[in-house]
Amino acid sequence: MKAFIVYCHPSDDSFTKNMCDSFLKGIKDSGNEYIISDLYRMDFKSDITEQEYLRDANYLTTPNVAPDVLAEHEKINSSDVIVFIYPIFWTEAPAKLVGWFDRVWSYGFAYGEKTMKELDKAVILCSAGNPLERLENFGLLGSMKKVMFGDRLFGRVKNNEFVLFDSTSREKPLREKNWEDNLKKAYEKGLNLFEVKEEKFTLEDRFFTAIENSESGEVSSQTIFAYHQKGNVIWAEYSGGSIIKGFLLGTIDDNNNLHFNYQHINTDNKLKSGSCDSVPKTENGILRFYEKWKWTDGEEGTSIIEEI
Ligand SMILES: Cc1cc2nc3c(=O)[nH]c(=O)nc-3n(C[C@H](O)[C@H](O)[C@H](O)COP(=O)(O)O)c2cc1C
Repeated sequence: MKAFIVYCHPSDDSFTKNMCDSFLKGIKDSGNEYIISDLYRMDFKSDITEQEYLRDANYLTTPNVAPDVLAEHEKINSSDVIVFIYPIFWTEAPAKLVGWFDRVWSYGFAYGEKTMKELDKAVILCSAGNPLERLENFGLLGSMKKVMFGDRLFGRVKNNEFVLFDSTSREKPLREKNWEDNLKKAYEKGLNLFEVKEEKFTLEDRFFTAIENSESGEVSSQTIFAYHQKGNVIWAEYSGGSIIKGFLLGTIDDNNNLHFNYQHINTDNKLKSGSCDSVPKTENGILRFYEKWKWTDGEEGTSIIEEI
């Protein structure tokens, strides 16, 4: 098995470089292979040119893709797994890596009539100066995951994992204290990179929309559900289409089936409520829920929501 590592840090004098080296050693020790694009060492040109912009923005397959971008396409299509290793800069990947996506995710490769292979997995190993708690409480971690998994990698990988090494900036005592443990964690991630294991199911920070509904239902493709999960409790806020504002609250069972009550105000200013049982199914890499719902007044229906 082969991993393609996209590594982006401006300095070897960094935690991220050490973490990357430990991860690579883990892959090597597992008997698997990797190839790496070290974006700073390659001096990867991250500014999209006007010609590239006009090609992508107009959905054209000409002019031909630049040789440095083609080389990245080849690395992706010859690999099973893609791994991104970088420090968080202002709640994003470093600009060079953001630019890598601007250029490498070109029309005809990553979108349109895609020639990009669907990879088994994407793993992000990310160092952050802030503690995990702050990144979670401010919604910053969720935003970063959403951008990477909900946009850049969406529909392009079968599974994904975000591994955070928090409190690693130089002023944090935890940087030194956790140094060896963090390198060990990175090594083990490399060692087990190709292990097939069922990821723990969570609805935290996942967004859905309806793709089908019975006639008497009110949610539609205009409705967005923002889901959350803590333990076996799930909740979501939803709005859009004929729904001004709605909330649902319920539980997720051991088979990942959802059981919840919902209520919303519709555009006729009516308060509607009901209950729903929902079964998950992953189809073409997309998580869908097949829902059986019932209004409080008794009418029943079915709907399908899918992740966006
Ligand atoms: C320009 C810059 C911006 C940064 N922005 C953030 C940030 O938004 N959030 C965060 O948690 N850490 C931030 N950091 C801290 C880095 O993620 C830091 O580099 C990380 O802790 C890893 O340490 P290393 O550079 O030794 O690898 C930033 C660092 C720099 C230099």
